[in-house]
Amino acid sequence: MITVSAPGKLMLMGEHAVVYGYPCIVTAVSERLTVAMEETNSGKIVVEAPQVKNTRFVDQAIIEGCKAWGIQHTGLLLQTKSNFSNCYGFGSSSAVTVATLFALVRLFEKNVDKKELFEIAYKTVLAIQGVGSGFDVAAAIYGETLLYGNAGQIMNPLPWKLEDDGVTLVVGYSGMKADTPVLVKEVAQKREKEPEKVNRIFEAIGKLVLQAREQGDAHDWHAFGKFMNFNQEYLRDLGVSTEKLEAMIFAANKAGAYGAKLSGAGGGDCIIALVPKEKQESVENAIIKAGGSVVPVATSVAGVEITNEKEDNEMLIVVNDKDEVVSYRSRFDCHHDASLRHRIVAVILFDDKHRVLLQKRSFTKAKHPGLWAVTASGHVSKGEKYEEAAARELKEEMGVTVPLTFVKTYIEKPDEESEMVAAYTGLTSEEIHPNAEEVSEALFVTKDELLRSMLSGKIQLTPCAYQALQEIQFL
Ligand code: MEV
Repeated sequence: MITVSAPGKLMLMGEHAVVYGYPCIVTAVSERLTVAMEETNSGKIVVEAPQVKNTRFVDQAIIEGCKAWGIQHTGLLLQTKSNFSNCYGFGSSSAVTVATLFALVRLFEKNVDKKELFEIAYKTVLAIQGVGSGFDVAAAIYGETLLYGNAGQIMNPLPWKLEDDGVTLVVGYSGMKADTPVLVKEVAQKREKEPEKVNRIFEAIGKLVLQAREQGDAHDWHAFGKFMNFNQEYLRDLGVSTEKLEAMIFAANKAGAYGAKLSGAGGGDCIIALVPKEKQESVENAIIKAGGSVVPVATSVAGVEITNEKEDNEMLIVVNDKDEVVSYRSRFDCHHDASLRHRIVAVILFDDKHRVLLQKRSFTKAKHPGLWAVTASGHVSKGEKYEEAAARELKEEMGVTVPLTFVKTYIEKPDEESEMVAAYTGLTSEEIHPNAEEVSEALFVTKDELLRSMLSGKIQLTPCAYQALQEIQFL
């Protein structure tokens, strides 16, 4: 069996114009789609893809990949797993296409480079979707941040690391799902009706992208933000913005963003705001006040890659008493040596009645099966920040994304281990979607209800959950 994962994407600048050959800037984001594939003797192709809206991209990718690389198989089993919701427009279709094709290449040991992978993946997406510039396919393959254009003739990596420059990208979801092919077709119709006007807009967007790229290269994010705002004006003229997106963009800029715009096809989905780190919280709050929800993502992440080797060797972060990094060690080592204090996160959500959300650990768990734990928890991996791990674990275990507040770090010592825990709290009004593999039940309880259930034996907390609830002064 082979397991690979591909990232989603966010368009930073240049949407719509890129469909007509102009350049755009795209970044790969930390939401990933995983494909596990194995050859079977069933003579059939079985696709289990519960997170993918339809399996047409997977089916077509298998057809195109087998044809292009002369693959003959005796049956295939393919399963997908995803840590992103396709409603955010992060590009789940291109990610699943790329991951499926890359899994085929690696499982059948074909000698295919990224350029060729791009060609077949782009062909697959066009066969299903009919339209598209291919920028999302490029992001899923190459990762990082790219200057992309001309149906893949231009694909230049931009070595930008926003976090290193003290800026961050805040993503706000409008709550409205957009249909990219429909919007692309609407813009095409507009172009037929008013060719001069629309071509002028595309040309201007193309120029803005190149000017913004220079500012990015010079680390002048203030100037980059201004170009984002100009880009938004052109998107508004194209007719793809909405009142809700405008309200969120206005709020983000007013709260201190360097610039903000819609990202993607428009008509809904997301806005992005480029924000100096110190303004992040106020911009996030402003977006929420304007009716959006904030989606935490990291940018410039790796492109498609094999993950099963990585899972086995996944490195955890070993720290000293002051939470300074001293080394990276395997999961196995950390779980069997109490001197290797490693980073973990504990996420505790409340509802508006101050009831805490607990989860009953699934009975398939090796440790503490059937006991009750905090809302979500897990390890922080090498290269990951506490807040990223907290958002990821919450999404993986409870299927929700809400703004989280850091409370404190503390040390816990379960069994043969020693852990540095960062506790985060958050408020949820969203429906939760517990992951049945990890969680057998989820429950909101008041402090009194919890104490009563603990006394009667109805709820048995894990020692770590008990400590976490004490550390945040709930118990
Ligand atoms: C959609 O995310 C971006 C568009 O430019 C379409 C495309 O480039 O394929 C509108």
